[in-house]
Amino acid sequence: MAAALLPALPAGKTPAGKTPAGRTPAGTATSGTATSGTATSGTTPASTPRSVLADAVRRVADAALEATVVGSWSRLGVAARRRLWGWDAPVPAGSLAGAEVLVTGGTRGIGREAATALAAAGASVGIVGRDLERARAAAAEIRRAAGTGAGDGDPGKVWAAGADLGSVAEVAALAEQVAERVAARTGRLDAVVHAAGLLSRSRRTSPDGTELTAAVHVVGPHLLTARLAPLLAAGAPSTVVWVSSGGMYLQRLDAAALARPPDPYRGSVAYARAKRAQVALAHLWGDRLAGDGVACVAVHPGWADTAALRDGLPRFAAILGPLLRSPAEGADTVAWLAAGRAGPHPVPALWLDRRPRGEHRWPGTAAAPGEAERLWAWCEERTGGAGAAALAALAAVPAVPDLSGRGRAGR
Ligand SMILES: NC(=O)c1ccc[n+]([C@@H]2O[C@H](COP(=O)([O-])OP(=O)(O)OC[C@H]3O[C@@H](n4cnc5c(N)ncnc54)[C@H](OP(=O)(O)O)[C@@H]3O)[C@@H](O)[C@H]2O)c1
Repeated sequence: MAAALLPALPAGKTPAGKTPAGRTPAGTATSGTATSGTATSGTTPASTPRSVLADAVRRVADAALEATVVGSWSRLGVAARRRLWGWDAPVPAGSLAGAEVLVTGGTRGIGREAATALAAAGASVGIVGRDLERARAAAAEIRRAAGTGAGDGDPGKVWAAGADLGSVAEVAALAEQVAERVAARTGRLDAVVHAAGLLSRSRRTSPDGTELTAAVHVVGPHLLTARLAPLLAAGAPSTVVWVSSGGMYLQRLDAAALARPPDPYRGSVAYARAKRAQVALAHLWGDRLAGDGVACVAVHPGWADTAALRDGLPRFAAILGPLLRSPAEGADTVAWLAAGRAGPHPVPALWLDRRPRGEHRWPGTAAAPGEAERLWAWCEERTGGAGAAALAALAAVPAVPDLSGRGRAGR
């Protein structure tokens, strides 16, 4: 039944440009100024020469911090930027009442902290982990931490699903479950956060025969985005957040390499390639869904003290020790973007600490011409053309009056 729901936009689809219930975008992020932790476009009507100068100084200081790498990606970076920009909470209390969000990797670490912040702000949040019972236990803990537990009259406020993001069949079933759940409530999704991830020290293969890192970080999120695209379009302006990594700076985009892991296997290389591919996928989906009011962004959370980091890079985690960010600090910009706080048109970029960042730090990592489209084709091969099917379904929906200026011409 839910499969039938997926291709069609639920009745009551609102035009791109609507403000979903309770979402309070703080501004439109382009490449310009940031005020109070929000990247906005250029000067505001209230700008004075002094505030423009102060802003320029902050931007230079932030960029200098970013150039240090360790200073930026460790907890020092969060502390410095919090003071520099006068950050407020990533998601103000009550600002997401009525919003619907899905967070993969929501059972632990960065995903769980993002889910908690979003739930605390009033959103209904679905979290996904491999094991349903573990995910249910995590959902109960998130409800407690977010203060949305028993007594709020809405047990669906934080709900759990079990799915292996590395399995095409399980991701397809997950999308149906989400559609059923959401259809019974609002008929739309305001945000999807792709936070599930791992850094495996040995070569493993998904149930579909894809190297596990590429399957969980790239193929699964591609399929989930495709299957949920109609619900995201119904929730426009909505956001898809890909939780990538600074590791991606070490690799250039190479679609063929995703199918051909390093031999002998090196988990950090497979991971960095998959994380680079996530950033490219965010652009590919962003280009295709912009006309439907769905923004796609990637986030680099810095280095956070989580199980994935401790298990995947134990020596690195031990050396950095007290400099690691807390999972909540790593989740700050993830939740901030998912909550629409960069505005309805966030810069389609890799974000760190509430600002878009460059996607290349070292020479030789620029993608070869056509490589992004080869990545798209590789994902489509593994998911039975899920992306094309989703885009065709969206194109078949009669155009709605465009109040946003974004139009439906993006595809
Ligand atoms: N920590 C860092 O410093 C850092 C830096 C850069 C990027 N990241 C990225 O941030 C994201 C979150 O990582 P984390 O550090 O918070 O790690 P974490 O605490 O180990 O959490 C990983 C999450 O991913 C889920 N997961 C793993 N494999 C899965 C699969 N096959 N199917 C479904 N869910 C799966 C886990 O759920 P279950 O175990 O319940 O299945 C868990 O919720 C990842 O994408 C990671 O690459 C982290």
